[in-house]
Amino acid sequence: RRTGLTDALGRRISYLRISVTDRCDLRCRYCMAERMTFLPKDQVLTLEEIALLADLFIARGVRKIRLTGGEPLVRRDIVDLVRRIGRHLDEGLDELTLTTNGTRLAQHAEALFDAGVRRINVSLDSRDPERFAHVTRNGDIRPVIEGLAAAKAAGLAVKINMVALKGINEDEILSMLQWCDREGFDLTLIETMPLGETGEDRTDHYLPLTQVVEQLRLHHELLPIAHRTGGPSRYHAVEGMGVRLGLITPLTNNFCADCNRMRMTCEGKIFMCLGHEDHVDLKTAFREGGVDAVQPLIDRALRLKPASHDFRIGGNAPAAAVNRHMSVTGG
Ligand code: GTP
Ligand code: 5AD
Ligand code: SF4
Repeated sequence: RRTGLTDALGRRISYLRISVTDRCDLRCRYCMAERMTFLPKDQVLTLEEIALLADLFIARGVRKIRLTGGEPLVRRDIVDLVRRIGRHLDEGLDELTLTTNGTRLAQHAEALFDAGVRRINVSLDSRDPERFAHVTRNGDIRPVIEGLAAAKAAGLAVKINMVALKGINEDEILSMLQWCDREGFDLTLIETMPLGETGEDRTDHYLPLTQVVEQLRLHHELLPIAHRTGGPSRYHAVEGMGVRLGLITPLTNNFCADCNRMRMTCEGKIFMCLGHEDHVDLKTAFREGGVDAVQPLIDRALRLKPASHDFRIGGNAPAAAVNRHMSVTGG
């Protein structure tokens, strides 16, 4: 019998992020290039293959699975996969969840709840339709707002993910916080990371959350709280509000020392860190030799996990620390 997933530094890997597609119906500036070439279908794992690999990771100790993309809800029959993995929620799996852009939530919210999803993270960098269109390169905000209402109605807890972007949405953070509070959502702010060539200058829009917090504190006291969701977000209570404010600060205060996650791309590659190119490829081994062929590769992946990412912004840092786009690795 194989043992659980512990890396060379003793970090227990209990959280698996699975990117189910590299495609997306939006084109966020910090995430994708304007023109993206998407993977041909035969290079992408089938839903059945993803389900079998998920079984294997759960057997090896994964307790939390998050489906991401690209946009997970653009993948056909995705809810079947959620149901299939959701069977483990009775035993083995503590949480099955998604990170979505929300455009198709209205269609799927109830089915997701019925499949065992209780909480979702929805990316929303601006509530202003024009700004939203700017950030997403022409996206329509209306289905996202409808999707959020549907999620709430279906009983899903919602956390909004907002990538903090200097000169784009920095003046909107306080109002986003207030809106989340009114809606009963939590809010997580994220520092933009230099991943993949997007055709944008990252240093132009990088906004350290230390600055944002300073600004917010002029309006509301922020108190660190022990609330954890298993990801890198560090939460704060906001004086006078019910909303929890999460901060994801890979650049100003990284959280790598207690990293608990690994990522599987839609092609079946395992990345042990968002900020490194090292990976193992499970697809060929799995297609040729099944689960047994994959086990040693997972062990190798564990040995590849670096102590931390080495993202830098500013100075003479490279524009993109890693060549993969976020939509490929899945955030
Ligand atoms: P919770 O389960 O709610 O804690 O979610 P999460 O933060 O794990 O997942 P989500 O998809 O909402 O992630 C938000 C963003 O945090 C990601 O898209 C990344 O930008 C960043 N992030 C998550 N995990 C890591 C990580 O291991 N390293 C780095 N550098 N960033 C990460
Ligand atoms: N830096 C930080 N966050 C990013 N996301 C996408 N690209 C980047 C980037 N370069 C975020 C999205 C979404 C999550 C999955 O990843 O906004 O919330
Ligand atoms: Fe799509 Fe999310 Fe990337 Fe935006 S950040 S382009 S919504 S995958």
